[in-house]
Amino acid sequence: MRISVIGCGYLGAVHAACMADLGHDVVGIDVDAGKVALLNDGIPPFFEPGMPGLLTSGLSSGRLIFTTDISAAADCEVHFLAVGTPQRKNENAADLRFVDSAVENLLPYLGPGALVVGKSTVPVGTAARLNARIHEISPGTSLIWNPEFLREGFAVADTLSPDRLVYGLEPGNDAAVHILDEIYAAALGAGTPRITTDFATSELVKVAANAFLATKISFINAMAEVCEVSGADVVELADAIGHDSRIGRRFLNAGLGFGGGCLPKDIRAFMARAGELGADQALTFLREVDSINMRRRSRTIDLAREVCGGSLLGKRIAVLGLAFKPNSDDVRDSPALSVAAQLQLQGASVVATDPKAVENSAKRFPELVFSDSLEDAVRDADAIMLLTEWQQYVDLDPYELANLVAAPIIVDGRNCLDPGKWRSAGWTYRALGRP
Ligand code: UDX
Repeated sequence: MRISVIGCGYLGAVHAACMADLGHDVVGIDVDAGKVALLNDGIPPFFEPGMPGLLTSGLSSGRLIFTTDISAAADCEVHFLAVGTPQRKNENAADLRFVDSAVENLLPYLGPGALVVGKSTVPVGTAARLNARIHEISPGTSLIWNPEFLREGFAVADTLSPDRLVYGLEPGNDAAVHILDEIYAAALGAGTPRITTDFATSELVKVAANAFLATKISFINAMAEVCEVSGADVVELADAIGHDSRIGRRFLNAGLGFGGGCLPKDIRAFMARAGELGADQALTFLREVDSINMRRRSRTIDLAREVCGGSLLGKRIAVLGLAFKPNSDDVRDSPALSVAAQLQLQGASVVATDPKAVENSAKRFPELVFSDSLEDAVRDADAIMLLTEWQQYVDLDPYELANLVAAPIIVDGRNCLDPGKWRSAGWTYRALGRP
């Protein structure tokens, strides 16, 4: 298939590289000339395991190319919309500017039999609106809404072997289904379930899934709050309830909470859209999910103050981890970066490190001190804050580390260390939701 992918951010760049890997001819189109140049040089503009190899092999096979010129879409049979839908400034709702302009710019190049496939996360109702607009200008073109569920850090695997494929479309559009099935033939052949439904349901599948995941994390973090006042242990609680297969242990890791470019903005946009549709009461619980999540950041700062003897003023604090989760350099709405910045604002002298996210963090908070070296970050620290559970931090040797710091005090913001091991090595160990 000849495919265009419009928008080469996280979603689009990975999708384009994966489609080329499957044997399709792909052109990735983006308005950002710098990003396009990097991608054409085989350099992903973000850290994602597996992407450099996939890009290089796609480019050298001749099946993958990136451009800023939308007219390159003219030769393609299928067009994936993969542009961002960020949160609007000072509002909860999603900003659809990029989706709308992608469709408008694509319209002149659509011919009879073309298929547009929407992958961006959009408020329910968007696909029907775009479908009407496409039909106005190009009656022979079809639209399928095909939400993407990829996780950063696993984006390549999630794209090539998704849990499920969801197609939202107008009833009876079998020709369009047939084309998309051909594109995803490998995944379908491997038994990936495919759900065909209407536009609205397909849009809701995505935001409902993210709302559920956010709720699951905030549920266990609410339990952590109760554990903190009752002397209970939230990790043991999560292990115990997680054995119930109806509940499941995944996404029950209590700690600093969720961040990133998706969950926070998606639950807010979902609330805003439900409000517009007159169903705001149905989602008021998501406001609480958001509040619980934000309270974890404040609690972590309180813990830091506590272990520093009641005041952060002049204390040397080492922050380990800035990315919103391990195996990512993404600091969008990162709980770790937000805590690091707050500690500094409250008078601590922070040195922060991360295996991949220092550069992106420094762009957002240039006033923080960063180091690429873990040793430099922890040297003479009055306390260590572990805020993103990178494997190299989980594997740290408490005895070796004790030789570098001013005081052996650690706050485990991700409940990823063994408290017994650290305490027996002489450390004061504190965590969220644990005695
Ligand atoms: C998420 C969804 O998982 C994915 O399906 C969707 O397509 C995009 O949004 P992603 O943003 O990559 O993916 O991150 P995810 O792995 O879901 O983690 C989100 C946040 O939740 C991270 O900050 C992570 O640290 C936090 N988290 C996750 C917890 O605090 N506890 C958990 O148990 C799991």
